[in-house]
Amino acid sequence: MEAHSAPVPPPGCPAHHYGGRVPLYTPEFAADPQAYYAFLRNYGPTAPVELAPGVEATLVTDYTAALSMLRNSIFRKDARRWRDLYNGKVPADSPVAPLLAYRPNAMFSDGAEHLRLRQAITDTMARIDARRLARSTERTSDYLIAQFGIRGSADLMGDYAKQLPLFVFNELFGCPAEIGDRVLFGISGMFDGINAMESAQVLHGAVGELVTLKRSRPGDDVTSWLMQHESQLTDEEMVHQLSLLLGAGTEPLRNLIGNTLHRLLTHDRAYQDIRNAINDTLWHNPPIANFAPHYPAADTMLAGQKVMAGDLVMVSFAAANTGLALTEALGEGSNRASLAWSAGPHSCPSRGPATHIAITAIENLLSHFPDVELAVPQTLLTWRPGPFHRALNVLPVRFNPAQPMSSPTRTPTASHDEHAAAPGNPDATAMWSKFLAWLKK
Ligand code: HEM
Repeated sequence: MEAHSAPVPPPGCPAHHYGGRVPLYTPEFAADPQAYYAFLRNYGPTAPVELAPGVEATLVTDYTAALSMLRNSIFRKDARRWRDLYNGKVPADSPVAPLLAYRPNAMFSDGAEHLRLRQAITDTMARIDARRLARSTERTSDYLIAQFGIRGSADLMGDYAKQLPLFVFNELFGCPAEIGDRVLFGISGMFDGINAMESAQVLHGAVGELVTLKRSRPGDDVTSWLMQHESQLTDEEMVHQLSLLLGAGTEPLRNLIGNTLHRLLTHDRAYQDIRNAINDTLWHNPPIANFAPHYPAADTMLAGQKVMAGDLVMVSFAAANTGLALTEALGEGSNRASLAWSAGPHSCPSRGPATHIAITAIENLLSHFPDVELAVPQTLLTWRPGPFHRALNVLPVRFNPAQPMSSPTRTPTASHDEHAAAPGNPDATAMWSKFLAWLKK
């Protein structure tokens, strides 16, 4: 494929101001990413972008080029190869460093080490029982709905989509009250950018305590199953894989629920099956828009473009999906898969449970509020800036108020009962403790 010369940005395009690199961190990008992807396609299958001030990357925007990069082992995941970070060109306090800098987990490893860590994760996730997952999601959904149902209005991001994955994960991972509060506090703070460093430390400490607890008192939960896996993870490996699962799971899941609710509330098409709304969301508005950071192990060619060893090369799942949708009929019978879960050895190992949680959460919400509608004109909805995610700030809705539900009569799981009296941490929010108390009512 022949190399393309850099196109001249149209008047008004911010690429004028950034030395030809197209910035993906501006409010303009968040407001209309598809216009940016259309412009980026002018460069050819890959384009020069900036992820934050001074952070340069090559972004693959073409579906076929993305697949070939994701499946080519010359492109590595180990971020210790990232030349610009390790020669000091990228500031250590750059807002994108926490997500891109190396950690010893499956996402940042290659070859045999990746296989070992990934096998431990996939075998563990395979043990999650679908009925238990549905029950846990419904119970959490009922609880959250009970908090706002009587008001007749809500912000479905803050009141629902953001909270639900955190609560479901806390339960799946067997978090007792006090540890669970700090897990929720840590993850929320990290993703909201509020005291990100402090939040990361709180999360790390809480997950460390969870590992110590489960070593001495294993339960019927993801943490204990991962610990019991034949790969025999060390405590440090456990903490890093659990933090990866919590981080890689909750933020995209929140946005999958949010973006699908957005689609349901703003599109003319009536969806009989929520699964179809989720599929359309994954094609047209994927929660992780641009990610899959890779680093060539040696200078090489990618879709006609030279990339150097240690360059940061990423995939635009959103651009690749919509570019393909523009050129091919993706109706029934198409065997093309959306890239929303990535592809190749590092593709998401949890698409099954994640889809299951999203479907249950959305169906349960709609069954309570069949008349739910947007409370503001669609044009007033805003999206969180940032190069990686596609995430609404808020999703204000109104509906006929529902009476608060009584708490469920189900038997709480062992992790609820055993440790609910653990000493509280004054710094943590008490969200998880309140949920556990509600279950016991
Ligand atoms: C139950 C919730 C989820 C969990 C526990 C989870 C977990 C993970 C893990 C552990 C990885 C790294 C795999 C590896 O490197 O071998 C991963 C990758 C990925 N996940 Fe998920 N995930 C969840 C939900 C989602 C959702 C909702 C999306 C968006 C649709 C998503 C999209 C991705 C993508 C695009 C990657 C590849 C990232 C990369 O290549 O750097 N995940 N996920």
